[in-house]
Amino acid sequence: MAEVIAMSDNQSDWPEPIIRVQSLSQTCTDSIPERCIKPSTDRASSTTSFSSFDHANIPIIDLANLNGPDPDASSSILKQISDACRDWGFFQVVNHGVSPDLMDKARETWRRFFHMPMEAKQQYANSPKTYEGYGSRLGVEKGAILDWSDYYYLHYLPCSLKDHNKWPSLPFGCREVFDEYGRELVKLCGRLMKILSINLGLEEEILQSAFGGEDIGACLRVNFYPKCPKPELTLGLSSHSDPGGMTMLLPDDQVRGLQVRKGDDWITVNPARHAFIVNIGDQIQVLSNAIYTSVEHRVIVNSDKERVSLAFFYNPKSDIPIEPVKELVTPDKPALYPAMTFDEYRLFIRMRGPRGKSQVESMKSPR
Ligand code: OGA
Ligand code: NI
Repeated sequence: MAEVIAMSDNQSDWPEPIIRVQSLSQTCTDSIPERCIKPSTDRASSTTSFSSFDHANIPIIDLANLNGPDPDASSSILKQISDACRDWGFFQVVNHGVSPDLMDKARETWRRFFHMPMEAKQQYANSPKTYEGYGSRLGVEKGAILDWSDYYYLHYLPCSLKDHNKWPSLPFGCREVFDEYGRELVKLCGRLMKILSINLGLEEEILQSAFGGEDIGACLRVNFYPKCPKPELTLGLSSHSDPGGMTMLLPDDQVRGLQVRKGDDWITVNPARHAFIVNIGDQIQVLSNAIYTSVEHRVIVNSDKERVSLAFFYNPKSDIPIEPVKELVTPDKPALYPAMTFDEYRLFIRMRGPRGKSQVESMKSPR
């Protein structure tokens, strides 16, 4: 407890001066700072399998015929999503209804933001209090080993947290693009929530209601992974599960980097064109009483190309208790987790940074 109090006192500022990884990438051409070097067990090279999983990929699911005239097509799509949620915790969707032009425009506008002069970005420098703005680390532990990435974090929902002044004002017109992107993704997440609810054997609105109905949270983290002279020694983003509800990732269209855990292997995701990569977060693991689990993932970097990704987090209302949905709690399957609000829950990652699945695992009710 003492440790937690000490860390929350620190929340208004970072424990060490912030160094932008993008600047490091420009100055370090043949080595990386000690503080970015991961223990050898965490490096990609030591755990990546080059065996049977070489061509493996997470499932790609086409939503074109969802809710169309053919009910068999719809139920086949639901089944594919159900299997992917159980087997992988991850899948890609194509023909999802979000315009490919908007997707490209959102990603390329963010890329242009990261290519603006440092002074223009620094005016949005964030603090660990809300994380909103331009940042370079997760967690406030002094001396922590850092990831090879910078990011920008902003809120869409609830409306009370959305603040255009905390969004970049340049490149010109970017706020309109990011607004439209957020609206479209909230819609798509709403459709997927219904499907997940039905697939869990629930009425279609149950999961959304458990999230707080219309009062859900939605935020975006744009990840910028600069080129790295020693990619084998570090990670762009350390292994973690997403703390929120569901994540919709728009990956880079040129450069791979996301790896998903499958048993003891790490599978490098091969994104389909104009796909979103969907994954289950810890809050859906809790609500589904672990029928669905949030799966660990991480990002590797490389020495020849930067990578930009947009991670859109669809979260429960932050101050309502989240616990296993009552229909999924039975004498045979008692509730695995106690109730906790998302505000309480996310303090962990905000203070300690990405730590595999340690948080949701540690929450399991003692029995
Ligand atoms: C994240 C994440 C993956 C990526 O932001 O939580 O897992 O490919 N990003 O950038
Ligand atoms: Ni993630």
